[in-house]
Amino acid sequence: FTPSHASPDDFRQCLTASGVPCPLVYEQSSPSFTPLLLSSIMNQRFTANTTVRPRWIIAPTNASHVQAAVVCGRRHGVRIRVRSGGHDYEGLSYSSRRPETFAVVDLSSLRAIHVDRQNSTAWVESGATLGELYYAVAQASGNQLAFPAGLCPTIGVGGHLSGGGFGTLLRKHGLAADNVLDAVLVDAMGRVLDRDAMGEDVFWAIRGGGGESFGVVLSWQVRLVPVPPTVTAFRIPVTVDDGAIDAVTRWQEVAPAFPDDLFVRVLLQNQTATFEALFLGTCDALLPVMRCRFRELGMRMNRTDCQEMTWIQSVPYFGMGAGATVEDILNRTAATKAYTKMTSDYVRQAIHRDTWESIFSGWLAKPEAGIMILDPYGAAIAGVPEAATPFPHRAGVLYNIQYVNLWFVAGGGAAQMRWVRDLYAFMEPYVTSSPREAYFNYRDLDLGENVVAGNVSSYEGGKVWGEKYFRDNYRRLAAAKDTIDPEDYFRNEQSIPPLGASK
Ligand code: FDA
Repeated sequence: FTPSHASPDDFRQCLTASGVPCPLVYEQSSPSFTPLLLSSIMNQRFTANTTVRPRWIIAPTNASHVQAAVVCGRRHGVRIRVRSGGHDYEGLSYSSRRPETFAVVDLSSLRAIHVDRQNSTAWVESGATLGELYYAVAQASGNQLAFPAGLCPTIGVGGHLSGGGFGTLLRKHGLAADNVLDAVLVDAMGRVLDRDAMGEDVFWAIRGGGGESFGVVLSWQVRLVPVPPTVTAFRIPVTVDDGAIDAVTRWQEVAPAFPDDLFVRVLLQNQTATFEALFLGTCDALLPVMRCRFRELGMRMNRTDCQEMTWIQSVPYFGMGAGATVEDILNRTAATKAYTKMTSDYVRQAIHRDTWESIFSGWLAKPEAGIMILDPYGAAIAGVPEAATPFPHRAGVLYNIQYVNLWFVAGGGAAQMRWVRDLYAFMEPYVTSSPREAYFNYRDLDLGENVVAGNVSSYEGGKVWGEKYFRDNYRRLAAAKDTIDPEDYFRNEQSIPPLGASK
């Protein structure tokens, strides 16, 4: 692969000659180009005119169109970026930090879902959203099965499953990536490979290491999990004046050790800690657990706090605004679009009460403050060995912290971005170190970007961000990259470099 010096027409003509119908290829000059580009951009920071945009968007309707995009891209020096749901925090599925001629392969038309009720499995194409998957599984199984993945129903299956993926079922059933049984990938040669054909190292790599480094994942076979007819959700705000600091301090110890059918997360905003929970059972079974194991919250709970529902009803409850219905989770554009800055941390040792006090009185009291979201780990997610998938944040992790800030005015956000960065710096002594761990699906380019040497991303250069996301699994990811894409065709600012000369 050599970067493009060819005429742009060559790429386009190659696509046509390879059977990609003209209406599926959008040039920048086409009136439909910008609406299609913007259609699934979640982070509005990357809608600005200064963002490096693709030269073409290809919207494949079958596998051969994806193969043609890759083969023509390589032949004519055009890189491709793959977009499924467009939720990447740094916009890497449709934009570039550096000037570059590239095409986006937008998979949103490839979103078929086939549920095999008998075997509790499903095949899902990457362009489906989590909401579409959850809905199809609930329908086909009469609400008896679900899939353990993220809370926001508009997330794309392609990016989410390949980057890990966790939500309310994580303590009972682990990550989305832990429940992948097979996948179909178009590699840099344009070949269509299933699990057997891609080999176990590549199959290992795309379950948490990010699909974009290895090819285009067309579809996934997933294991579905049983859910009871009734689940219980609650959302209880506790203010600082009412004991939030003690409750959060205690939560750190109890939430990762709860029975695996109880998930209690905390959102810290302003002077309030809001405890949100999903319990795989009834309110009658939940209340004694809360009162015995987490008195700071349990003793103030009563039946009116509980909302009993089916699991599929819990999806809009957690992932959408008040009043959203189960049908609303099928709306691919329902999510509120904002300008955002996010990053993440992991905590292996509970943070002292005094620190929580200064977080509330200092950081969360600022006018530009955002939100801290604490998701408890333990149980199933901790039961998987660290090397079983690229996702290494397993046994010993108490919880994940996500720092979130958003704003709604173009060109604004300087104070909000600074808040995230300064709070991240402040948290250093209290979170994991050497490496300071981060969650790959909460991508943050502040952690580092690839260094390209000799037209290949450098393995050594990638360590700075790679070991934060993957710890020791970074090296094995680079080895897998070496076997499937040694020339580094599938590349972005945080793609896995080939191990190459570092072998
Ligand atoms: P997008 O299409 O932007 O792709 C993300 C990355 O994956 C890009 O690098 C892209 O190239 C690559 N990619 C996408 N499809 C591919 C394919 N088919 N083959 C190869 N590479 C592919 N996470 C979580 O674990 N739990 C949660 O609850 C949430 N909640 C949440 C809410 C909101 C509002 C946002 C914006 C994000 C989250 N996330 C999350 C993070 C989310 O899991 C993460 O951003 C996913 O990568 C998004 O996947 P998409 O396909 O939507 O993104």
